[in-house]
Amino acid sequence: MKKVIIVGATSGIGKGIAQLYAKKGYKVGITGRRIALLLELKQQYPENIIVRSFDIDNSQTVAGHLEALTAELGGLDLLVLSSGTGHRNAELAVEIEHSTLKTNVEGFTAVVVWAFNFFRKQREGQIASITSIAGLRGNKLAPAYSATKAYQMNYLQALRQIAHHHRLPIVVTDIRPGFVDTAMGKSEGVFWSASVPKASRQIVKAIENRKKIVYITKRWRFVALLAQLIPRPLYERL
Ligand SMILES: NC(=O)c1ccc[n+]([C@@H]2O[C@H](COP(=O)([O-])OP(=O)(O)OC[C@H]3O[C@@H](n4cnc5c(N)ncnc54)[C@H](OP(=O)(O)O)[C@@H]3O)[C@@H](O)[C@H]2O)c1
Repeated sequence: MKKVIIVGATSGIGKGIAQLYAKKGYKVGITGRRIALLLELKQQYPENIIVRSFDIDNSQTVAGHLEALTAELGGLDLLVLSSGTGHRNAELAVEIEHSTLKTNVEGFTAVVVWAFNFFRKQREGQIASITSIAGLRGNKLAPAYSATKAYQMNYLQALRQIAHHHRLPIVVTDIRPGFVDTAMGKSEGVFWSASVPKASRQIVKAIENRKKIVYITKRWRFVALLAQLIPRPLYERL
């Protein structure tokens, strides 16, 4: 029985992925702050799911929680990081920017560092983290969100370099969604918005195919290409 941890499985994409892995017969460790939602999900797959509630913003405690959950699962093959936060903040309210950094930078780093070091010792494993198409360029509507997603993409790339340099068979998958219809996506009426089941299916397939970078849904890779091609002086006037 393969073992997977989904960090941030109380709602949205993380929940969708957790349901797919439980259906596939994986042993699934699910986390998030809202314990009631975790227990609700466990009720759907009581044999497969193990629950551990914690806040990744308390970055010093993350390693201990992941260690304990892995011991309960009896090992670990794959860690998926879906926890994240994002707000429109064109007014630059500084507390919103700081709280985004806390989750998307400090929390993210605590999770992926623990996972990479665990897989390094084990000499195999896979990390898949949900970043965003928003990380490709700065975004005036959500400066901290776009900047923290860029940090995540670069961090994952650095991990791939370390794995290559030390010949470690660790796969690092960077999942870059466009719009997905979740509480955070608030994407009602937004163009090319994917449902959670569709996005989750594509994500699980990309993880199985051991992809390094994947756009969700697939058509978003064209937007990514276009976003990167727009010359900087023009982009900054948009
Ligand atoms: N939806 C989109 O259009 C879209 C597009 C691109 C990228 N993404 C990315 O996809 C990921 C999942 O987001 P979603 O759209 O599925 O939104 P969501 O339904 O709001 O899910 C966010 C998840 O993150 C968890 N989380 C947030 N802060 C946390 C913290 N401090 N500690 C632990 N867990 C925390 C939440 O759990 P608790 O609140 O229970 O802790 C929840 O499970 C995020 O990284 C987001 O940036 C989403």
